[in-house]
Amino acid sequence: MDAPAEEELGEFAETILVFGGPYGNLQATEAVLAEAARLRIPQTRMICTGDVAAYCAEPLATANALRAAGITVLMGNCEEALGYGAESCGCGFEDGSRCDLLADQWYRYSTVQLDDDCRAWMRALPRRITLTMAGAKLAVVHGGAQTINRFLFASNAAAEFAEEMELIDADIIIAGHAGIPFTRPMANRIWHNAGAIGMPANDGTPRVWYSLIVPQAQGLRLEHRSLSYDYAAAADKMRRAGLAEGYADCLTSGLWPSLDVLPATETANTGIALAEQTFHWRPASVDA
Ligand SMILES: [Fe+2]
Repeated sequence: MDAPAEEELGEFAETILVFGGPYGNLQATEAVLAEAARLRIPQTRMICTGDVAAYCAEPLATANALRAAGITVLMGNCEEALGYGAESCGCGFEDGSRCDLLADQWYRYSTVQLDDDCRAWMRALPRRITLTMAGAKLAVVHGGAQTINRFLFASNAAAEFAEEMELIDADIIIAGHAGIPFTRPMANRIWHNAGAIGMPANDGTPRVWYSLIVPQAQGLRLEHRSLSYDYAAAADKMRRAGLAEGYADCLTSGLWPSLDVLPATETANTGIALAEQTFHWRPASVDA
């Protein structure tokens, strides 16, 4: 079954937890589920922005954990590629780049690990998720509005965000794919990337990231939150599986093995620990 273009989740009156990039990292996935339980956020109020299976050692167990929990999952380029049996991950890396060469290894590994049932589940995932909260329209996309593997980082030009937002009818756009959390206010709208839980944010720490979106009396609050988990166990499983040392080391060092996809600003910020941050969105009528 082909993926529906969009899944409408309706109105949310309470906090939702958003996370991206589980990347086959079962330990991080279990940690974010435990974090939600600690925060008393039910799994029906959790959204994953895609890329369930990628760099790490347990793609099938990770997908099954998300499915068993009943979490709403968006189709990432990894689900699209693995679900439809593509030749490569479709991450958008340049041919022959270090990212491309490393991706070839985990992609072949994940292809073998997944079963037909999981691939069918991946093909059935929505490509866009919409919901409303506190007077705001929210839309969840993986990379960009039309290009599933478009990389958008905090330092990208305003025109690039404007171009994407022109195509999406929402006050707040939540994206994945990039792997580094950020929030980019644009006039009265916001582009928000929750980062990834399966791989650190190239900030020199093993922490991973998720977001809380909290309704307020007027508008809502977006919180970037870090998460600590058993990264040593996840790295050990990767090494035992024969996966690239680069990404296994990254789980511990917090440093990406290749910076090919990063703009100059994010490259310069390599190894600088990210801080937890909070942003606010209020309806235009409140600002007036
Ligand atoms: Fe992706």
